[in-house]
Amino acid sequence: MDYDVIILGAGAAGLMAAIEAGRRGRRVLLLERAERPGKKILISGGGRCNFTNLHARPENFLSANPHFAKSALARYTPADIIALVEKHRIAWHEKTLGQLFCDGSADQIVAMLLAECAEANVRLILGADVRSVSRESGDTTAGNFLATTQSAVHRAPALIIATGGLSIPKMGATGLGYALARQFGIPIRPTRPALVPLVLGGAERTRFAALTGVSAPVRVTAGKRSFTEKLLFTHRGLSGPAILQISSYWTPPEPLLVDWAPGRSLLAPLLAPNARRDLAAAHAALRAALPARLADCLLDAASPLRFTNQALDDLERRLHAWPFTPIGDEGYDKAEVTAGGIDTDALSAQTMECRSVPGLYFIGEAVDVTGHLGGFNFQWAWASAAAAGRAV
Ligand code: FDA
Repeated sequence: MDYDVIILGAGAAGLMAAIEAGRRGRRVLLLERAERPGKKILISGGGRCNFTNLHARPENFLSANPHFAKSALARYTPADIIALVEKHRIAWHEKTLGQLFCDGSADQIVAMLLAECAEANVRLILGADVRSVSRESGDTTAGNFLATTQSAVHRAPALIIATGGLSIPKMGATGLGYALARQFGIPIRPTRPALVPLVLGGAERTRFAALTGVSAPVRVTAGKRSFTEKLLFTHRGLSGPAILQISSYWTPPEPLLVDWAPGRSLLAPLLAPNARRDLAAAHAALRAALPARLADCLLDAASPLRFTNQALDDLERRLHAWPFTPIGDEGYDKAEVTAGGIDTDALSAQTMECRSVPGLYFIGEAVDVTGHLGGFNFQWAWASAAAAGRAV
């Protein structure tokens, strides 16, 4: 069987690239090592798939080249994926901050992508573990690509690599994309877990482990970046959307600064004329604004307390810039995505094709473009896939 393009990996990016190329009449072979396509889509967004974000802008993505993603994101927008979702009569809602979720289940998104693949005559082979890739000519820059699985060799003049990153090895992340990049001389930016919980150590872990399960809306800052969302205490450290977001920017050993009450005063009641100024009043003031266990824990950590105007001002300031010094992150096992990856300098921003290897494309999470939490990573998967699928 002759194909115009082989796509490695039937995740969000591979499926979308297959649809776009197939619709243009390209003969597409999609190879997936798992027995099911789109496994990460199925578990995403708590099973409801946060499939895009209405406010997706280039600023929502990290990359060594912040301009790289602009072209693809402009040519496949949230409106495009919404139109596809609506074509398939999938009900959706905006949860918060522009995040769009299925009302029903993430299965519907996978079913939608598979229906579109079938309509575009894409041939999908599941259980096809791609072990190696070469070029028929022996020259890395010309000739058909040969993709070898455990049982067959497939041939096509174009190859799109959509094998994702290193996050969640249990779900089949393989790092094949990076190995192939090395083989073809394509540079890779150092990879690291992103959108990942952070781990506390020593006395900090001991003190805050007592708060496991407590969450609060906060503003968290690392360097020049801040996010205002919920923080969640875990038995090993910190998680919740605020921490997942800042984890993409945090570089150890810099401290994180947490504002427990953004834009609000916590100790104002103690500063009123004739107000009581003692430990009980301080606990009452903090408990009025924060979960009681958190309020008590913060005051314990700040003790011994003093109640002069100056001391109260200092404590107020500390409660708006509470330093944590994580000792690390929870690693790829718990990371939603992999930051870093295929160096965008090596790719065309219009098509995702490697500048030095005609016919070879990288898309999705494998590329050094990483979205914030909230539907941005799928938007990048759709957009980079559409760019390649329309060009190949
Ligand atoms: P993806 O990893 O999805 O697909 C790669 C595919 O390649 C896999 O199917 C894999 O089996 C296959 N493959 C690998 N090696 C192979 C080989 N050797 N041969 C053949 N096939 C191979 N994002 C978002 O925007 N909204 C959300 O709600 C969520 N939620 C979420 C929850 C959880 C728990 C995680 C882990 C991640 C998210 N994400 C998310 C992130 C999102 O899932 C991620 O960015 C995309 O799935 C990336 O899509 P890709 O297609 O690039 O890789």
